[in-house]
Amino acid sequence: MLTLGIETSCDETGIALYDSGGGLLGESLHSQVDLHARYGGVVPELASRDHIRRIVPLAREALARAGRRLADVDLIAYTEGPGLAGALLVGASVAAGLGIALGRPVVGIHHLEGHLLSPLLADPPPSFPFVALLVSGGHTQLMAVEGVGRYALLGETVDDAAGEAFDKTASLLGLAYPGGPALALLAQSGDPRRFAFPRPMMASDDLDFSFSGLKTSVLHCVRKQDLDDRGRADVAASFQAAVVDVLGAKCLRALEATGMQTLVVAGGVGANAALRERLQRDTARIGARAFFPPPRLCTDNGAMIAFAAALRHREPPPGTGTFTVRPRWDLAALA
Ligand code: KG4
Ligand code: ZN
Repeated sequence: MLTLGIETSCDETGIALYDSGGGLLGESLHSQVDLHARYGGVVPELASRDHIRRIVPLAREALARAGRRLADVDLIAYTEGPGLAGALLVGASVAAGLGIALGRPVVGIHHLEGHLLSPLLADPPPSFPFVALLVSGGHTQLMAVEGVGRYALLGETVDDAAGEAFDKTASLLGLAYPGGPALALLAQSGDPRRFAFPRPMMASDDLDFSFSGLKTSVLHCVRKQDLDDRGRADVAASFQAAVVDVLGAKCLRALEATGMQTLVVAGGVGANAALRERLQRDTARIGARAFFPPPRLCTDNGAMIAFAAALRHREPPPGTGTFTVRPRWDLAALA
């Protein structure tokens, strides 16, 4: 079964073709980072318009890379939510139009389910059950995953998401949006022990997170002194160390609480090298294993949407002729 995946929930237009027998055949992606950089964040209306401009050429490109034609597609999958309503509607309506034109079924996929299952594209893939750490720009959650569609929330952030904390801290350091990758790069040359930033909720018994206090603490630190390049690198490294400490501690606690042996990490912050290294080391120490999607599949992409749809629908489901988007959508409520 050949599945076409369409991702347009935020600021990346991603298209991919996944074959249930042959794996990922073709991918194309356009990031709107440059478009939004001057505004310091994603401008929803600009995002929607750019998705409209890019989506058809990207679909053609993905098909060409896969060496397939539209008529070969058996199932069309799009991101139904959560995300920006206008951006989601672009992918949803293109998917619906293709479904009608080709006479193929169209299915909506939960964006976070796409992230959550994307580590299964790693070689070798993890097996169920596992604890999943979802760390993106909008979400920080620990889930217990028993199988496809069987997700239980273990804990989540009570305020900012980890990616949001990276982005806001990067902005305080004068780095361009989205700051996560830039901050990680700057941190490489800094001293992670120079500033003792707080590790919020690290000692609490639950599996929840909080990152807004950490960000405020960085703000005070940056305001208090005139930092040179060295100092900025030290702030970046110290901030990253605090986030990695908290995420690492809570992942271990989640493995302990569930008795599971496998941790998978997904979402944009999962591309962070310091986090990957820490989780590899910590899980190995307790005899568990950590799995990560390839870094290019950590951030938003069409492949995870096609893949999640192919796992959920082993056979093409009957077409319904309708589509919907859900800007807010609870993953644990997914059946
Ligand atoms: O999953 P994603 O592409 O989009 C959402 O669904 O949110 O995640 C984007 C987030 C941004 O906050 C970005 O700064 C962060 O992931 N990010 C990183 C790194 N690469 C992306 N954060 C830290 N280190 C990185 N290497
Ligand atoms: Zn995402």
